[in-house]
Amino acid sequence: MKFQKEKTLVLLKPDAVQRNLIGEIIGRFERVGLKIIAMKFVVPTKDQAFKHYVKNDAEIVALGNRSIEGKKKSGIEVKEDPKTLGQQIIDRLVRFLSSGPVVAFVLEGNQAISITRKLVGSTEPLQSAVGTVRGDYTIDSYTLADNDNRAVRNLIHASSSQFDSGYEIDVWFKPEEIYSYNNVRDRILYDVNLDNIND
Ligand SMILES: Nc1ncnc2c1ncn2[C@@H]1O[C@H](COP(=O)(O)OP(=O)(O)O)[C@@H](O)[C@H]1O
Ligand SMILES: [Mg+2]
Repeated sequence: MKFQKEKTLVLLKPDAVQRNLIGEIIGRFERVGLKIIAMKFVVPTKDQAFKHYVKNDAEIVALGNRSIEGKKKSGIEVKEDPKTLGQQIIDRLVRFLSSGPVVAFVLEGNQAISITRKLVGSTEPLQSAVGTVRGDYTIDSYTLADNDNRAVRNLIHASSSQFDSGYEIDVWFKPEEIYSYNNVRDRILYDVNLDNIND
């Protein structure tokens, strides 16, 4: 079967850079079999960070709704409407992402989007599973972040759908900055004729 080749956009957020976790985190994606096809070290502008997070206005409300759901589950009373709350989260995210250097890269491989999300772990570090980037390398929570009026420091972003990855790759990379190349490892990962590996 032909493999389902996908590209996904990953950002190591300013907390990952500040904590010297670049190598540790990138190593995990290399190790699993994904291929780095573009990479840069950049201090994002506020506009770039906003463009990355807000693909359309509905996204702000959706983010607010997810936050309200989470808060209700934890027994926290919510006074703000979804739009106000979503806007507040976006403002904090934009401030955080543009606060210092980040590492942006594109990974390619079989079902790269979901494989990468699996390695990244769920959004709130308090909940993310052991073995994931967010579960293994940090300890932040929404409650702590909200209390300090800041974005949750969860180290990493990874695209969550094919639409998002296409959009986000465009935010961070020009087409000529993305390199399609053969990697010797591709053969053992994808070649249908594994029996002939020693030919
Ligand atoms: N309920 C929330 N409270 C505070 N920040 C949030 C909340 N939900 C999401 N965020 C922040 O917004 C970012 C984007 O949200 P989302 O796309 O839902 O998560 P993910 O980064 O896991 O894809 C998250 O990485 C996190 O920094
Ligand atoms: Mg997301």
